[in-house]
Amino acid sequence: MRYWTAGESHGQTLIALVDGFPAGVALETAPIDRELERRQGGYGRGGRQRIEKDTVQIRTGIWKGQSIGSPIALEVVNRDYKLERLDDLPKPRPGHADLTGAIKHLGSIRGVLERSSARETAVRVAAGALAKQLLAPFGITVVGYVVELGGEKIEPVSGTPEELIALRDASEIYSLDPSRDAAFKQMIDETRKAGDTLGGVVEVRVEGLPFGLGTHAQWDRKLDGRLAQAVMAVQAIKGVEIGLGFEAARRRGSQVHDPIHYDESQRDTPNLGFTRPTNNAGGLEGGMTNGQPLVIRAAKKPISTLAKPLASIDLNTKEAVDASYERSDVCAVSAASVIVENVVAFEIAVALTDKFGSDSLTEMLSRYELFLKLARER
Ligand SMILES: Cc1cc2nc3c(=O)[nH]c(=O)nc-3n(C[C@H](O)[C@H](O)[C@H](O)COP(=O)(O)O)c2cc1C
Repeated sequence: MRYWTAGESHGQTLIALVDGFPAGVALETAPIDRELERRQGGYGRGGRQRIEKDTVQIRTGIWKGQSIGSPIALEVVNRDYKLERLDDLPKPRPGHADLTGAIKHLGSIRGVLERSSARETAVRVAAGALAKQLLAPFGITVVGYVVELGGEKIEPVSGTPEELIALRDASEIYSLDPSRDAAFKQMIDETRKAGDTLGGVVEVRVEGLPFGLGTHAQWDRKLDGRLAQAVMAVQAIKGVEIGLGFEAARRRGSQVHDPIHYDESQRDTPNLGFTRPTNNAGGLEGGMTNGQPLVIRAAKKPISTLAKPLASIDLNTKEAVDASYERSDVCAVSAASVIVENVVAFEIAVALTDKFGSDSLTEMLSRYELFLKLARER
């Protein structure tokens, strides 16, 4: 299973083409639309989000409400379609694809920024939210939230996926501590007034994973590597950590690796009874899921377009100028948590189809049950 996207920020439409999605999955647009709405939200967004009200249309690959095993085209139409009326932007913005893309393609900055814009993530979210509908019958949940904003940490709390979602959805920042929203909103407001922007860190937690998604056997099918690629490929993400991440490098081995215990009472759960008192590995060992929750974090840099612009060069005259300013977000870390959540969901679904087949949900579920039975008897 895989997907590609097409579409420009102010073009007619955005498309995700999902190939290899199994047959027999009941598909609904409402859960996809909810994710699209969350992606547009979060405190600190710019005017564009007030123009767009994203909804998805499932254009192909569906019959009587179910997937049929053919490619699925997901479409999110741009309300703010005006590309043909837009001019070029001669003054490349530092931190964007503007300068390099225009030189690489021997063309305009407009032609580059329209595609490099994070508007494209609307359909990545749609593809991930579609993938979640495949994960649901396996009891796999994926929850993303903000754990750091503007350099201030927000410690994640533990809880069931439902509890985490309730906390997160009560927060305008999409963190697990809504009581700190007011302080973060003030930080965002002050940053906006100063003509500056903010970044942060998001975390995604995946529960209900069976053993053995991914592989130790070949580099390009290791799940940690695949997740890292999917997450790093989100606009403005500059770092990815799994489990302890960089902190693991600073500790002794005895303070990093998760001891292996056995608890017979959990034999019928996806961990097969193999419990770990800690989860510093973040649910992945040797490029495979190890029956523990998967925990992955991503660092998002501050928005590159500044209301108080950085120094740049006019590409036509080569004169020193201020960088161009286009309507922009001040902080999109909350939105990034939605995007990272959904690109992770897609990669998990890919790994699930790699292990249990991708022709039909019915076959996948029976192979999944058989695998659990054989693994318990092993
Ligand atoms: C949800 C989200 C919203 C974004 N909104 C903006 C924005 O309004 N203005 C801007 O300059 N950059 C924005 N960005 C960041 C740029 O898309 C990104 O930094 C740029 O395409 C360069 O890519 P790179 O940072 O991955 O190198 C946003 C990123 C994300 C994830």
